[in-house]
Amino acid sequence: MEYAIETSPLETVQSDCLIVGVYLDHQLTASANLVDQSTQGLISKILKRGDISGKVGETVLINAIPESAIERILLVGLGENKVLTGKNYIKAVLSAINNLKKTPITNVVVALADADVIAQNRQWKTRQIVEVFSDALYQFTAFKSNKETDSKIEKISITSPEAELGFAESGLLQGKAIAEGINLTKLLGDLPGNICTPSYLAEQAIQLSITYPSLKVSILEEADMAELGMGALLSVSRGSRQPAKLITLDYRGGEANAKPIVLIGKGLTFDAGGISLKPGLGMDEMKYDMCGGASVLGTLLAAAQLQLPLNIVGLIPSSENMPDGDANKPGDILTSMSGKTIEVLNTDAEGRLLLCDTLTYAERFNPDVVIDMATLTGACLVALGRIPSGLLGNSDALCNDLLAASETANDSLWRLPLWEEYQEQLKSNFADLANIGGKDAGTITAACFLSQFAESFNWAHLDIAGTAWRTGNNKGATGRPVPLLSQYLLNRAYG
Ligand code: BES
Ligand code: MN
Ligand code: ZN
Repeated sequence: MEYAIETSPLETVQSDCLIVGVYLDHQLTASANLVDQSTQGLISKILKRGDISGKVGETVLINAIPESAIERILLVGLGENKVLTGKNYIKAVLSAINNLKKTPITNVVVALADADVIAQNRQWKTRQIVEVFSDALYQFTAFKSNKETDSKIEKISITSPEAELGFAESGLLQGKAIAEGINLTKLLGDLPGNICTPSYLAEQAIQLSITYPSLKVSILEEADMAELGMGALLSVSRGSRQPAKLITLDYRGGEANAKPIVLIGKGLTFDAGGISLKPGLGMDEMKYDMCGGASVLGTLLAAAQLQLPLNIVGLIPSSENMPDGDANKPGDILTSMSGKTIEVLNTDAEGRLLLCDTLTYAERFNPDVVIDMATLTGACLVALGRIPSGLLGNSDALCNDLLAASETANDSLWRLPLWEEYQEQLKSNFADLANIGGKDAGTITAACFLSQFAESFNWAHLDIAGTAWRTGNNKGATGRPVPLLSQYLLNRAYG
């Protein structure tokens, strides 16, 4: 897909389709007004007829325009003629692209960024068009015999006045980089577990470091991890024929002495539950249990492409969780890299076993902050559904930075408490702590477990069990939380 900025006057631009916004009560945006004038009042006429009222996301495709160089016009409702909320802007942009999918249109000109949006400039508005269009046009056809996609669109031009070209151009660059990161994350998520193994993820990290030489990759093998004493992580992969990998991507775009931002992503390429086997219904979706790891890859791709002036370390512990004669058993006691012993009361609570050793490993990078993301608990879906990711952490400053970024990126978060009282639930009769905290507050007790390995740095945990993929007819990876993390990094770099 080609994305570009277009500064020539709207009515002179050649395209298969021009997308302009209209408001309620027959009011036109500046671009709609221009087009209206160059088409003898065509848009006004259609509004008067009542074919579109102007509600947010409503659309009408005008596909024959007499005596005009414009082939088609897509009118998109933007709601009341006042400053839009970011959410409504995104809703309108999404509706626009969804309405062009099953048409023969190959190139479009989008004039929606001239609508005013609360607290956002043209950079953000341009970037959102790229991100939303790219997201909507993604289709996973790798294993379909017929690889034809719904959309024929090849080129998307986003209009900008000459005076705001700088904002538009930087929004375009950011949008393209973030969209590419999201695409990689979605692709890896949608790949099945028999293809996307820990070794495959490691290979993807190596490929990424070849494409972006600013990303230095290193892979720890099981023998390396054994030497480090990663008894918790290795106990999970013991039950699998696929060897575990601990992937490190090191990006040094900042000052040599600046402490890095460490991103950790759970990379469970298939979670059968182990001996505490999961029920069969919906188990296929446990191929998505590596989406945290894929988000780390996607975010580092965006950071490298944007050459952000930051130091960032990505860590991806990757394994399968399978039932096997050598698998973890309930009651087993492990010694983690930190020295803390863990009683495995449920082998399906494996994510925290990978993450705890990776958190300990993160200490050696002398992190400024550590952010982990994991499809960690089904309880997160019970608590929050599929709208926000869960946020927990030991640093209010970091949590607030993430909440602010999530707002801008339209990639929502909801913070849950990490009060000390909950730690009680992790007590074990036989080891330093148990790997589960009983049926109450499962998302919080999982984070409590992790917090015991994150005491020496500022740390936040994102539970993305409800947000990393969609279930049902529309099953597929979402690429979240790449938008949020990219925004956090942009804020850290330039905010
Ligand atoms: N990967 C799962 C969490 C999960 C389940 C994410 C369903 C999305 C949808 C995780 O490894 C897991 O199995 N967690 C257990 C923890 C429990 C045993 C304390 C869970 O949520 O059931
Ligand atoms: Mn599990
Ligand atoms: Zn899991």
